[in-house]
Amino acid sequence: MSVNEASRWNPVDYAANAAFVPALGAPVLALLAPQTGERILDIGCGDGVLTERIVATGATVVGVDGSPEMVAAARARGIDAHVVDAQALPFGPEFDAAFSNAALHWMLDKGAVARGVFAALKPGGRYVGEMGGAGNIATLRAGLRQAVGEMGYTPPAGDPQWYPDVADFTDTYAAAGFSDVRAELIERPTPVPAGLAEWFRTFRMGFLDQSGVPPDARDPLAACAAAIAEGGLPRDADGTILADYVRLRFSMRKPD
Ligand SMILES: C[S@@+](CC[C@H](N)C(=O)[O-])C[C@H]1O[C@@H](n2cnc3c(N)ncnc32)[C@H](O)[C@@H]1O
Repeated sequence: MSVNEASRWNPVDYAANAAFVPALGAPVLALLAPQTGERILDIGCGDGVLTERIVATGATVVGVDGSPEMVAAARARGIDAHVVDAQALPFGPEFDAAFSNAALHWMLDKGAVARGVFAALKPGGRYVGEMGGAGNIATLRAGLRQAVGEMGYTPPAGDPQWYPDVADFTDTYAAAGFSDVRAELIERPTPVPAGLAEWFRTFRMGFLDQSGVPPDARDPLAACAAAIAEGGLPRDADGTILADYVRLRFSMRKPD
């Protein structure tokens, strides 16, 4: 299986509209607890903003990402990043730990990812991360699908992400050989500082490609999707819309 066509990223838009993604990765970074001198693999490292924070702890970090544009942005930041499909990780048992934030749900061959991370870890190595979980951004996804249909385009038949529940996730990783597989779903209503229309343009570029939406129709379509979704979402005390994020946070280890 190749890199998911729904996963398409523009690093400039990502920096402008998605900075909350690496910023909200702080708790899972704390769970990783990187140590000086450790060798750590960051799976789906994106533009490397969060990777840089692992490097700052004194660990040696290798980032892999399927997007050449995001890898270029990470390299520009000084990260040792490589264009690699994480569904075909090429590593032997060389890492003390593996980490991933907001990326695994784009990788539809979940078993291949699990087996590749297992192979990349030293015996006893730990794997910690966070991804979209069951129910993630359901209102945003429904709003976009409705807007695509109302504007006369045809969205892809299924949902092009894997947003697992706890059992699906833990079964997948236990089957790859991991032990102490722990996962929890965390509802995280999330302010989207740039607004929902920018969210759709940034996070669903590939979905709009797959739906056949031409460039000049993207802004009106994103505005339409935002108007639909806003009706179903709460606001915080300042009136900022809260997107219906649900995260699945996990930890596990490779047996000794
Ligand atoms: C939302 S970004 C998260 C980036 C970063 N981890 C962060 O916290 O900001 C998701 C990343 O997953 C990457 N990705 C998607 N499918 C992938 C695959 N099959 N192999 C490697 N990376 C992939 C995308 O290219 C994108 O950079």
